Amino acid sequence: MTTAAQQGANVYPPNAETVARAHVDADKYTKMYEASIKDSDAFWGEQGKRIDWIKPYSQVKDVSYNFGSVGINWYADGTLNVSANCLDRHLKARGDQTAIIWEPDDPNDAAQHITYAELHRRTCRMANILESMGVRKGDRVVIYLPMIPEAAYAMLACARIGAIHSIVFAGFSPDALAARVNGCDAKVVITADEAPRGGRKTALKSNADAALLHTKDSVKCLVVKRTGGQTTWVSGRDYDYNEMALEAGDYCAPAEMNAEDPLFILYTSGSTGQPKGVVHTTGGYLVYAAMTHEITFDYHDGDVYWCTADVGWVTGHSYIVYGPLANGATTLMFEGVPTYPDASRFWQVCEKHKVNQFYTAPTALRALMGQGNEWVEKCDLSDLRTLGTVGEPINPEAWNWYNDVVGGGRCPIVDTWWQTETGGHLMTPLPGAHAMKPGSAMKPFFGIEPVVLDPQSGVEINGNGVEGVLCIKDSWPGQMRTVWGDHERFEKTYFSDYKGYYFTGDGCRRDEDGDYWITGRVDDVINVSGHRMGTAEVESALVAHAAVAEAAVVGYPHEIKGQGIYCYVTLMNDREPSDDLLKELRVWVRTEIGPIASPDVIQWAPGLPKTRSGKIMRRILRKIAENDFGSLGDTSTLADPSVVEDLIENRAGK
Ligand code: WT7
Repeated sequence: MTTAAQQGANVYPPNAETVARAHVDADKYTKMYEASIKDSDAFWGEQGKRIDWIKPYSQVKDVSYNFGSVGINWYADGTLNVSANCLDRHLKARGDQTAIIWEPDDPNDAAQHITYAELHRRTCRMANILESMGVRKGDRVVIYLPMIPEAAYAMLACARIGAIHSIVFAGFSPDALAARVNGCDAKVVITADEAPRGGRKTALKSNADAALLHTKDSVKCLVVKRTGGQTTWVSGRDYDYNEMALEAGDYCAPAEMNAEDPLFILYTSGSTGQPKGVVHTTGGYLVYAAMTHEITFDYHDGDVYWCTADVGWVTGHSYIVYGPLANGATTLMFEGVPTYPDASRFWQVCEKHKVNQFYTAPTALRALMGQGNEWVEKCDLSDLRTLGTVGEPINPEAWNWYNDVVGGGRCPIVDTWWQTETGGHLMTPLPGAHAMKPGSAMKPFFGIEPVVLDPQSGVEINGNGVEGVLCIKDSWPGQMRTVWGDHERFEKTYFSDYKGYYFTGDGCRRDEDGDYWITGRVDDVINVSGHRMGTAEVESALVAHAAVAEAAVVGYPHEIKGQGIYCYVTLMNDREPSDDLLKELRVWVRTEIGPIASPDVIQWAPGLPKTRSGKIMRRILRKIAENDFGSLGDTSTLADPSVVEDLIENRAGK
């Protein structure tokens, strides 16, 4: 059989200029990859030198994937400070270089250029403020901020004093915020008066006020002034950042941290239960974030790099803040949205700041693609060199548009597959090394051994042209270490179904050329606009409403969002379906979780398809949501097969 690559169909090799410039070309990739697998200690021992250590490590990897005793340690006897790596070590050579370009929501407001020297000062002041509020090494600090430079100061300040930050995306509701503050027993919440986004303002401080009603009384709140909007002030609990920053000292000594001390906790959705706190540690995480940032995007000194994510997600942690700053890069931080004031905003910002590497999500590309090419074409994008996507599979139409219209056919597209859990990219084409295929994550990064397993037997499927569940054979430095406060859940989620492997939760296909294609989640996690959502979370929000007896939530294909949220709702006996109730439930879910969890479709379901033992058959619900009634499979094991007919008959939007 001839392969796609042999036929030359839909394969996009890098141009000569890209190859010549690239840190890694095809040859180097092959050699380095082989070396990374053959002797991973030697490989990662060398890569560890990318960052500065206070006390150098003598051991590299110490990992057990054995269920019951999973332990992941990298550079375990080394000590370092992450903020010193992102700041202090650059001061001599690049104190006056811009570290962060901040582009505000309103294009008529001035952008800020924050130098490494300034970022160092600001971080130190924030660190001193936190210390004055009683934050000590190992304490948790929740950050609930808009995309403003203070979010970076706060992250780096925590890292500086050894506090563990947990960022909560500013789009989450007070309830979700409270759950996370309580989940990690945070001492301080850092927030802002308001978050401007797309010309609208979210009242962050009042959300925080509402959340803090449901936390310990001792939790303090540090408030950054962003808009100057009115806020309620609780004296003794609330601290004024801007006022304190005037007094705070410009220097704070970086704490000496062990490589395996936690750097941050980031809550993410799973297939069951409430979100879990993914824990990343300092040494290995930073090595991996720095290395992938440099190589995946082919970042070179002096480049301007822009990742459009929010720091509330792992992408913002690794690829707005830690990776770029560890590399002494200029990283752009954008407060706004792609379509404000109009659909040209991304490209205006690229032109204005002469962006070289641009990293965004397919959902944004799909939305912008629909607005027409003129929004892109009127901007000068000649500085763009590498384009990246992340968060969900990219469909070929969006890929081609990105390649042709945005990249002018000159820029490699790195389709980076990774997860909150992985800390950094695990699979991606590299700009100068791989011929890209639209929609394929292509090749593993150095040190990563992907395996395709048979979902039932758990046996590795070898060879090419195969499909199954995606696991990773061995560890890498950026891997999560545990679930905060629940190591058992960590082992159960990632190491129990397929023993001896890290289970990703994704399905994948290895094509005839040996290139990887992510086929989507194999669990009850859905991906809405690149945001990860547990269907169980939406269900539990729905059943918390007094009118709802039962709910089942599945994903369905959505043109812009990738996946939409489809809810089947069974009402209490005394309640009748109505448009008002439908609206009420939508608002309810938004308040329980946040706008990102807003149901796209709610279908009234007099009954749900269950097995005789009472298990909801989601497979059938997914098919109905997908409008694919022909392949419902065997329904004979259902307790009451007639409910399926009713659901089909009354499918929402039919
Ligand atoms: C899930 C992880 C990684 C940072 C943002 C999302 C899906 C991620 C891709 C990609 C296809 C992708 C997977 C993964 N995903 N990147 N390039 N192609 N699918 O992080 O919220 O932890 O979600 O996003 O399903 O498991 P996350």
